[in-house]
Amino acid sequence: MPIRVSCVILAAALAASGQSLRDLAKSKGVYFGAAGAVLFLNEGDYPTVLAREFNQLEPENDTKFGPIHPAPETYAWQRADALVEFGAKHGMRMRGHTLVWHNQNPAWLTKGSFTPVQLNGILESHIAAVMRHFRGKMIGWDVVNEAFNDDGTMRSTIWYDKPGIGLQGTGYIEQAFKWARAADPDAKLFYNDYNNEAICAKSDAMYAMVKDFKARGVPIDGVGLQMHLTLKPNLDTYEANIERFEKLGMIVEITELDVRVPVDASGKADPADLVKQAEIYERVVRGCLKFSACKAIQVWGVTDKHSWIPGVFKGTGEALIFDKAYQPKPAYTAVRKAFEAAK
Ligand code: XIL
Repeated sequence: MPIRVSCVILAAALAASGQSLRDLAKSKGVYFGAAGAVLFLNEGDYPTVLAREFNQLEPENDTKFGPIHPAPETYAWQRADALVEFGAKHGMRMRGHTLVWHNQNPAWLTKGSFTPVQLNGILESHIAAVMRHFRGKMIGWDVVNEAFNDDGTMRSTIWYDKPGIGLQGTGYIEQAFKWARAADPDAKLFYNDYNNEAICAKSDAMYAMVKDFKARGVPIDGVGLQMHLTLKPNLDTYEANIERFEKLGMIVEITELDVRVPVDASGKADPADLVKQAEIYERVVRGCLKFSACKAIQVWGVTDKHSWIPGVFKGTGEALIFDKAYQPKPAYTAVRKAFEAAK
């Protein structure tokens, strides 16, 4: 039973060192976060592991437009408030996700046949209501999520051109950031996307946008690299990419890290793949920690048990650092090593 043996060894290593990942992260001046759901806060090991290993928490779904604004005049604060309460109780930094996105929007919005002028008003008041509600509680927000296609062109969304809020190019993103700054002047404002960790067409488009925003005084504080990776990530230019955003004065945060691996019909991965996965985790964390711009590294869930990966990327799974039984995986040890090695 090689897998069980290695888990026992990992658990022993954890006990021996005494320091959790959050302690290690703190000692390096960064945050180690997880996406979380209120649904699991009463479930067995979930709250224990979340509070023990992570000093940052981000609602995986509960602050998205649909979940939090289910009807035109209704905001559903309860679930996100419960996460904020959990975070406060356990000394966690809270990050909000996300105000402007093409997914998980409510039917009243997507089927509403609103004019650009109406959509403009809806988005402004949504951003104001949500950010004001969490003012002083969320340290920052992914204001706009996934606005670019992989080739660097603008994604077609309800906010851009279906029918859009009436602004050209990156104008709707700019407008959203301005509304966000007005709603909560203390919150850090992020643009967040996936497939943007390397220097590539999408990260070039982001770079051009940020440079333009900085030159014109449009408020933006950071960029989020989601980093939903496979066993063949494109990391050759990852550090050079962080560096160029750092030079623009951006905070750079890893916001949704997971590394999916092939799994069999019962959802099990090959142990050799979990070793490769660990190497990738280590590389990502080490790379980020080389830069003072890198303030947080966050994984997209606490445990493989509740990860979004198997449901969306069929035939893959086991993408996180704790297995389905909340045991630390090789990836856990790798993250630990990367934190320990950092200056
Ligand atoms: C995912 C959640 O993990 C799932 O529970 C939900 O069903 C769909 O969204 N990029 C993002 C995240 O910015 O919000 C997505 O989260 C994953 C991809």
